[in-house]
Amino acid sequence: MEPKNSLFDTAVVGGQRLRNRIVLPPLTRSRADDDGVPTPLMEEYYRQRAGAGLVISEGTVIAPQATAYTRVPGLYSAEQVAAWRPVVEAAKREGAVVYAQLWHVGRQSHSSVQPDGLPPNGPSPIAITGYQYRSANGRIPYETPRELTTADIAEIVQAYGTAARNAVSAGFDGVELHAANGYLIDQFLNDGSNCRTDLYGGSLENRTRFLREVITELARHLPMDRIGVRLSPSSDWMDAHDSDKRTLYSTVVRQLNDFRIGYLHLVEPEIAGSTTVDRPADSVPTAELAALFDGVVIVTGGHDQASAERLLADGTADLVGFGRLFISNPDLPRRFQTQAPLEPLRPTGIYGGGPEGYTDYPSLAASGA
Ligand code: PHB
Repeated sequence: MEPKNSLFDTAVVGGQRLRNRIVLPPLTRSRADDDGVPTPLMEEYYRQRAGAGLVISEGTVIAPQATAYTRVPGLYSAEQVAAWRPVVEAAKREGAVVYAQLWHVGRQSHSSVQPDGLPPNGPSPIAITGYQYRSANGRIPYETPRELTTADIAEIVQAYGTAARNAVSAGFDGVELHAANGYLIDQFLNDGSNCRTDLYGGSLENRTRFLREVITELARHLPMDRIGVRLSPSSDWMDAHDSDKRTLYSTVVRQLNDFRIGYLHLVEPEIAGSTTVDRPADSVPTAELAALFDGVVIVTGGHDQASAERLLADGTADLVGFGRLFISNPDLPRRFQTQAPLEPLRPTGIYGGGPEGYTDYPSLAASGA
């Protein structure tokens, strides 16, 4: 019998060897400056967490229109690219492989953060209901998005390509495409947010077209096996609804097989954005989609060391992400390896602010343990 993988076995992603199967998944922390330029504080944060075999950046926006919140980093300006370089270099120097997560929020944005002050864009003029936008002045309703024209779509596809080229220039080893959590790509996939009657709506072939066009564009700037795709097949967070999620996401996974991308990153059904919830009634089992995929699978969402080892042992996952545990335990791999106690997450400093709740969580070495 083949020996089963453990979190501390190496793995290969995109032709690069990872020193373990532990992933820092994308986590919005809002410590860039007001122009989306990474800061020295971010360098410290990523360096601290570079014990992960694979480090994936927080969602990084591909254009000024792509953002929902202030202080989220971007990869569209020369200043941003220059400021990412030391951040990426710091994590690579510690031995991690480092990917940039490319993000466009679509209808989850708001006119108050749009460069032209107009409502955000989306596949169809359908507003998010049941959730409220986190504005600088508190929670407010989402707006009805403007329907993207085919010319707008072509422009966004181009912007993904430019951001990928910028990611390579900043030193990232690869990119992860954020196609999860009801953001722009997921808005095209789900029939609850896409009622277009052109080539980008209606049939599964049409609703998945935008995703395929973006992947094709990214692959003009880096090898296909350095591109990962993140999906949240069961999440209804931010009004992400589809009449048949199982058929939708199994179709997407089969299409990803044809591209031969580097990895598929699946968010567990119990995750709604950044919190743990009950599994939705129409959830699609992670193991079912993972089994459909021919390449490397990362699974993230609410796992601890023991449940992660089970995912590796039963073959569901090749790598496992730990988000909230990594926020409060910068040296999480070392703590797992030595069975050291884990630091609890504090509620302050998750989004925005300075070092507090960001870079001030202790590592074992620093505390003398
Ligand atoms: C968040 O800011 O809470 C957030 C951002 C991106 C996600 C999910 C949650 O994909």
